[in-house]
Amino acid sequence: MKYMTAEPFRIKVVEHIKKTTKAERQKNLEEAGYNAFRLKADDVYVDCITDSGTSAMSANQWSAMMLGDESYAGCRSFYKFEESVQDIFGMPYVQPTHQGRAADYIMTQMYAKKGKYAIGNMHFDTFRGNAEMLGALPLDYAIDEGLDANDEYHPFKGNVDLKKMQSLIDEHGAEQVSVVIITVTCNNNGGQPVSMQNIREVSELAGKYNIPVILDSARISENAYFIKLREPGYADKSIKEITREMCSYCETATMSAKKDGLVNIGGFLATRRKDIYETANQMAIVHEGFITYGGLAGRDMEALAVGLQEGCEEHYLEYRINQAQYLGAGLKERGVPIIEPIGGHGVYVDGKRFFPHIPQGEFPSQRLVVALYEAAGVRAVELGACAFGRKDPDTGEPIWPDLECMRISISRRVYTNNHLDVIIAALGDIYEDRDSYRGLKLVYEGPITSLRHFTAGFELL
Ligand code: F0G
Repeated sequence: MKYMTAEPFRIKVVEHIKKTTKAERQKNLEEAGYNAFRLKADDVYVDCITDSGTSAMSANQWSAMMLGDESYAGCRSFYKFEESVQDIFGMPYVQPTHQGRAADYIMTQMYAKKGKYAIGNMHFDTFRGNAEMLGALPLDYAIDEGLDANDEYHPFKGNVDLKKMQSLIDEHGAEQVSVVIITVTCNNNGGQPVSMQNIREVSELAGKYNIPVILDSARISENAYFIKLREPGYADKSIKEITREMCSYCETATMSAKKDGLVNIGGFLATRRKDIYETANQMAIVHEGFITYGGLAGRDMEALAVGLQEGCEEHYLEYRINQAQYLGAGLKERGVPIIEPIGGHGVYVDGKRFFPHIPQGEFPSQRLVVALYEAAGVRAVELGACAFGRKDPDTGEPIWPDLECMRISISRRVYTNNHLDVIIAALGDIYEDRDSYRGLKLVYEGPITSLRHFTAGFELL
């Protein structure tokens, strides 16, 4: 295990992080309305709020940046970036965007339709928001095992439920479904992978009815590594052979390159359809920037061209996936209830089992986020009653999500296992003392419920 979690790199530059006292953290929390998004990053010791845009870049990426060509049109950096994406995705056309949600926006405008269903395993918030603004109907059709926090082992909890998909088509007609989007790995239920078989079968089913299939590929190489480890027939394939096969079942892919692209900013839309590419070009010109930079600097595309390749290296992926395993195993040893199997980009703690005495209306996972920051200066994020709670449109009554979690995301190549040990110790202690915690009261929320977690304010009960 030690060999597998040890970093396949050495540290050349360090960034200092501040340690604070418990009293300071209590004051910070009060000022932030007990919302981790409102804390200043400088007051955080180990920041696990996201794995997005937080990677440490390699010396090769930094040196590539010096070669950035900042020409407006046709810059050299674009062609390097394009070649790198083509190599991994096997798709001919690549439109850069400033980050993933801009690619989501462009894709949504082309594929989501007012009043029609958009099926996914679990749609990420930015596609969902874009789709809802258009009047489309996004549906989360992950398999039941993927929604069960107590279900012990399923190798591919991110899979799309083909039976649910077929019954929707049977009931409403295929023309009522405009698109299927498969998110790899599935972020909202634990960074759970999707199997190749499932991608293939979704594609076959959708193909029968001419429904296009899209890959939301933010964590595509992590998903490919899980396929290599867990799916029969893939052990001897390279990561890129696997990513290309995944993409072969889809006509278009969007990517937030801030994850497996190992960069701090960037995204793109890749497609095998010329007409889709040409429309994406027009939309990029209006919203992002000219076709060959799409809101990115030449140097950003240089870093991304290299980062995408590094993200497919097997020693890197072995270390990466095993770091999440290390954190999960340590938490389990202390009895902390987590979602299993452990996913790709972090560990999801089950708020319902952690604080069984705190009802969802009092935000158990958010309470845990607050407790963890207070105890150790570690910042995680709530994916539960606050982020996913909705109101019944008729009665205004709250509807609570099945999964109630705190996500501890691990930034790529940033923290050592010693930092993870701090999290294990702090959460283990909080768990031992769990009965002494009370819930939270929501005292402020913004006008759009699906975005409320970013700005919400709470009080301790
Ligand atoms: N798709 C997935 C699956 C994501 O996880 C994200 C971002 C996006 C699209 C949007 O990309 O941030 O580059 O605009 N996820 C981050 C997270 C924010 O914390 O999980 P973006």
